[in-house]
Amino acid sequence: MDVLIRNNYKDMSLCAARIIAALVREKPNAVLGLPTGSTPIGTYKELVRMHREEGLDFSGITTFNLDEYLGIGKDLSKPYAQDQSYARFMWEELFKGIEIPLEQTHVPDGWTKTPEAYCAQYEDAIRQAGGIDLQLLGIGGNGHWGFNEPGTSLASRTQVVTLTQQTLDDNWALFYSKAGGRREEMPHFAITMGIGTILEARRIVMLASGSGKAEIVARALEGPVTAQVTASAIQLYPGNTTVILDEEVAAKLSRIDYYRHVERVKAQYHTLLY
Ligand code: GLP
Repeated sequence: MDVLIRNNYKDMSLCAARIIAALVREKPNAVLGLPTGSTPIGTYKELVRMHREEGLDFSGITTFNLDEYLGIGKDLSKPYAQDQSYARFMWEELFKGIEIPLEQTHVPDGWTKTPEAYCAQYEDAIRQAGGIDLQLLGIGGNGHWGFNEPGTSLASRTQVVTLTQQTLDDNWALFYSKAGGRREEMPHFAITMGIGTILEARRIVMLASGSGKAEIVARALEGPVTAQVTASAIQLYPGNTTVILDEEVAAKLSRIDYYRHVERVKAQYHTLLY
């Protein structure tokens, strides 16, 4: 696990965007796993800029989003309707800006009437696309990946979850500030890729910023591996992981000097994977 500590949110975002851009250039038909939330917005902005100003080409890329609220979402008669779904978030923050063909993007369908069967289909679709080359992740305030709330099995597959009150509270601002709406409309259920699904990606890049998440990030990266902090599954990941943090969120890590040392030495020997 490479832990890269950047000065601020902007530098964290640029670093993540460069990693994704390098993959897109190297493998124009790559499959990306994508998160929502405030954390990846800067990364998405930079990818849009690279597309517009540097011609970064997403026309062959396929994407799978981590999760979606149940009961809202893509109205198929009106793609990316003005709602509070993650499908809309992705359209606004990334898809329209990088001009990716929409049929190559996948966000779990929040309108599905058969969620269990739908979850299995979502897993199949990932498999048929050849698996995820790079999974970008944030981390929730309670340590979740996707919507895998505390207590979710670290072997879980795509499934329906019940959201915790903390997640509803944490996500409230983003849910409503951009779209308007009433709190009682906030869904209590969601579809999320499982932790087992996420761990099958060929590369994981996790982002976190801000002092509010310093404690939970330290628990996820350096605490015990536990289903109570589902992002701690990163410690079980067998492959190449890059964690990109800003100074504030890194403040409670106990091995920060070592992480900086690793980055310096790898840069010196040109073995950094970004
Ligand atoms: C939601 C998403 C997660 C995301 C988390 C953090 O719960 N389901 O995938 O990591 O929000 O959001 P933020 O980046 O806004 O802190």
